[in-house]
Amino acid sequence: MTLAADGYMESGKSLLLVSPEYEGVTPSWFSPGFWGGQAKPVTSGGRGGAWFIDAEPANLVLRHYRRGGLMAKLAEKTYLFSSFERARSLAEFRLLVKLRSLGLTVPEPIAAIVWKYRVFWYQAAIVVKRIPGAVTFADSPSLGDEDVWRKLGQVTRQFHDQGLDHVDLNCDNVLVTGDQVYLIDFDRCRLVTESVTGTNATWKQGNLNRLHRSIEKRCTSLTSEQRRTYWDILLQAYGHSQR
Ligand SMILES: Nc1ncnc2c1ncn2[C@@H]1O[C@H](COP(=O)(O)OP(=O)(O)O)[C@@H](O)[C@H]1O
Ligand SMILES: [Mg+2]
Repeated sequence: MTLAADGYMESGKSLLLVSPEYEGVTPSWFSPGFWGGQAKPVTSGGRGGAWFIDAEPANLVLRHYRRGGLMAKLAEKTYLFSSFERARSLAEFRLLVKLRSLGLTVPEPIAAIVWKYRVFWYQAAIVVKRIPGAVTFADSPSLGDEDVWRKLGQVTRQFHDQGLDHVDLNCDNVLVTGDQVYLIDFDRCRLVTESVTGTNATWKQGNLNRLHRSIEKRCTSLTSEQRRTYWDILLQAYGHSQR
């Protein structure tokens, strides 16, 4: 199997899609064992299917798609196959490319794979570039600084203005570096079409509600009074940000 010019490698049973800048990617990149000591399980945020990979020229994050909630008990890693293009990993890869082209702060996608098996099923994984120095929102040392809340409000608004419905907007899917806030984990997320992107669209409120619940649950290093103050700052920044 060789990589085609459009970044595809297909064997009938699996499909690998690779970003043009990362030609050396092979299917073994998606096995943590291939990396030996260079792969370390991610311990902060996530559902246990992610590894940080120390690699050259860039550090990577490998993620195997896993279900959460009740479905995880029935089928933790397998999904019903309809087509390669509709598989979770390919959909997220394409969405990340699109979001980056819109100027939004998301990780750079490197490669996505779909493994098909027993006719109806597949498993999937993605490799993205690790954001240097990033920590999850609740672990951020700047949690007591108004600026990071303002920034998160502005960033959420920018994503919403472009129509991105983040169906799992929680503290673990917000990463903070020195001066920037990133959103990650776009599994099942979508770009909403024009007609439903008004300011009051219910999906936007849904995203904000979910984020608020997660902040209440995870940012326990702050008092409830502080959380209320910072949430108001976030909402103000969200409301005042313009496209
Ligand atoms: N590009 C990235 N840079 C730095 N850390 C990341 C990156 N992507 C994921 N992580 C870390 O891995 C965790 C799990 O990744 P995520 O994409 O949220 O998958 P899931 O929640 O499905 O396990 C995140 O909460 C974060 O701590
Ligand atoms: Mg996550």
